[in-house]
Amino acid sequence: MDYKAQIHIDQLPKHIAIIMDGNGRWAKKQGKLRAFGHKNGTKAVKQTVETCAELGVKNLTLYAFSTENWNRPKLEVQTLMKLLISSLKKEIKTLQENNIRLNAIGNLDDLPTKVSDELNDVIALTKSNNRMVLTLALSYGSRNEILNAVKQISIKVKNNIISPEKIDESVINEHLYTQNLPDVDLLIRTSGEQRISNFLLWQIAYAELYFIETLWPDFTNQELYKAIVSYQNRERRFGKTSEQIR
Ligand code: IPE
Ligand code: IPE
Ligand code: MG
Repeated sequence: MDYKAQIHIDQLPKHIAIIMDGNGRWAKKQGKLRAFGHKNGTKAVKQTVETCAELGVKNLTLYAFSTENWNRPKLEVQTLMKLLISSLKKEIKTLQENNIRLNAIGNLDDLPTKVSDELNDVIALTKSNNRMVLTLALSYGSRNEILNAVKQISIKVKNNIISPEKIDESVINEHLYTQNLPDVDLLIRTSGEQRISNFLLWQIAYAELYFIETLWPDFTNQELYKAIVSYQNRERRFGKTSEQIR
């Protein structure tokens, strides 16, 4: 099946988010260490980023490291942080060539200085790029993001900068890490798990969910195309009836 040919280019999801899961299992299946899976996962990241940009997807958000992932063995966390630094260094070229702007969401203050320095460099270098926004969710947890927004809004209320009656959905949106991003249209999770794992809870309120068995390092362009075709074949009703939509 050539899924790419079935994509309606004028109806692309404006925002695709991916929970890239299954690196560890991918490595274990081959009798290798989990780190080998993470390393190979970066290849799937590069390919997915380039393909989304080529297709014309405007926003791609990748769940790379959750607040809960800090609880993994120290060595694995270190490996992931090192991999992040080397990938950022290596892929700045890919981002520039493809006119992609890098963005990051999460508790970025918790990242090791080496990671945040590299991250800030790449964000600064790519800030004028405008074909696609690539957002990396790093030390990201959605409940934490919402908690943080509530605190910030409360301080503004306390200081009479905003009145409680004026708090609406857009005010909440503006105080989330994702402030300038549109809602997620399509959420993909690999590796067979069918859960959200504290990712973009507010932003996926009406996203189409797409779960596949493929482990992240095996995620191919064909699977991406297939996910988009599936998305385009769904009727998004947003509470209305089918008749109202047509
Ligand atoms: C996803 O793969 C990568 C991160 C969470 C950092 P996992 O490392 O969760 O792989 P599995 O789920 O154990 O196979
Ligand atoms: C979710 O994967 C986080 C990332 C992909 C970065 P996990 O592998 O950490 O999720 P759970 O804990 O199995 O739900
Ligand atoms: Mg996992």
